[in-house]
Amino acid sequence: MKGAVFFASQYGSTEQYAHWIGEAAGLPVFNVKEAKVDLSQYDFLILGSPIIYYKLLNRKWVKRNWSTIKNRPILFFTVSGAPAGSKLDRWFAQSLPENMISKMKHVALRGRQKPEELTWYDRLMLKIGAMKNKDPQARKEELEGFDYMDKSSIKPILKLIQQFQSSKVST
Ligand SMILES: Cc1cc2nc3c(=O)[nH]c(=O)nc-3n(C[C@H](O)[C@H](O)[C@H](O)COP(=O)(O)O)c2cc1C
Repeated sequence: MKGAVFFASQYGSTEQYAHWIGEAAGLPVFNVKEAKVDLSQYDFLILGSPIIYYKLLNRKWVKRNWSTIKNRPILFFTVSGAPAGSKLDRWFAQSLPENMISKMKHVALRGRQKPEELTWYDRLMLKIGAMKNKDPQARKEELEGFDYMDKSSIKPILKLIQQFQSSKVST
């Protein structure tokens, strides 16, 4: 079973996770913005995307390529400020149609946000978002940033990749 990691990333943390996963599992890693790769050569796919403004950054790429990838096992990892839970599930579900979501295994990872790296537009939008946010922890993170990058959090992904490689998972 041949697989590959395809990621989208705005500020680099999803890219970092994609490379950690690729190195640990021995899979090639591609940025969806740059790669012109024939997806049909892969038996399973690991897709990675951050949540930016309550949506998956790679949602258009997934829809565009769905007809090629839909019959393959897909593991989708999200990278976000919010932890796994109902909020994240809702954003995931609102980004893609149900028939796509139901065919993927979703693993939630937490990322990083450094205010000094953001564009002025993103900084402004996050400030406005913070003013409206009723959750004090999320509000603080929107304003001050956070760093939840954790290499060991990819373990469940590596386990699922092993299952894909030994064809134990049905699509
Ligand atoms: C402009 C912007 C919007 C964001 N929106 C959300 C969001 O809606 N929900 C969330 O949980 N995290 C949000 N985050 C946090 C990102 O998901 C987190 O910083 C992630 O690590 C970014 O991934 P990247 O470095 O690969 O771009 C946002 C971050 C930025 C910069």
